[in-house]
Amino acid sequence: MRIALKIWRQDGPADDGRMVDYQLPDVSEDSSFLEMLDLLNEQLIEKGEEPVAFDSDCREGICGMCGVVINGEAHGPERTTTCQLHMRSFADGDEIVIEPWRADPFPVIKDLCVDRSSFDRIIQAGGFISANTGSAPDAHATPVPKEDADRAFMAAECIGCGACVAACPNASAMLFMGSKVTHLGELPQGQPEREARVLQMTAQHDLEGFGGCTNLGECSRACPKGIPLNVISQLNGDYRRAGYGGRD
Ligand code: SF4
Ligand code: FES
Repeated sequence: MRIALKIWRQDGPADDGRMVDYQLPDVSEDSSFLEMLDLLNEQLIEKGEEPVAFDSDCREGICGMCGVVINGEAHGPERTTTCQLHMRSFADGDEIVIEPWRADPFPVIKDLCVDRSSFDRIIQAGGFISANTGSAPDAHATPVPKEDADRAFMAAECIGCGACVAACPNASAMLFMGSKVTHLGELPQGQPEREARVLQMTAQHDLEGFGGCTNLGECSRACPKGIPLNVISQLNGDYRRAGYGGRD
């Protein structure tokens, strides 16, 4: 495949940044999107130019490190992570525009790499349990209704990639936060901090500069794990109950 690229290049946080054109005349349709960027970088290095900085780690869709905006869509045209996207999703001769996540709480570090430590601080504020687990308990020592376990597992699929924020016109992180609150709130071990969790995480979310949810749904559409909007309803319900001291 012959591919034309327009890539956001930014030397550092203080640099203004600019779009730069590149041509790749021979890309395999079986290569992944990140392998296509690896190919570009090999050619740039051979020419003595600075390679394009981008994040990745597992390249299996599980760690949440990768993520760029491809032709205006977070993670590109398929509902998957950038690392699991393949070049067969594009056509020979296509132009592909690649940008970093655009959101004030995710400042650009370099090129396509953004600083997502704001997510870490939200987790530090309340995305944990303090139950003393000791050694591995016997299976079923703490009974959990199947429906609750399934919902907790669904919410636990959030990999913290930040696509929801990048896709949201308000740069809201409520889908991410809703996933964490739902994951822990559905399980018995998550109950002791349930009220404090939602209040503290929401306070940190607002402090970081993320916006509020206005029910547009772009977050859920962009989410590579298919996290549904109803985790935000659960977040709002927990927040309301916590505000009333646990009463509905
Ligand atoms: S909710 Fe989805 S899009 Fe948002 S951080 Fe989690 S996995 Fe990524
Ligand atoms: S590199 Fe781990 S999810 Fe993409």
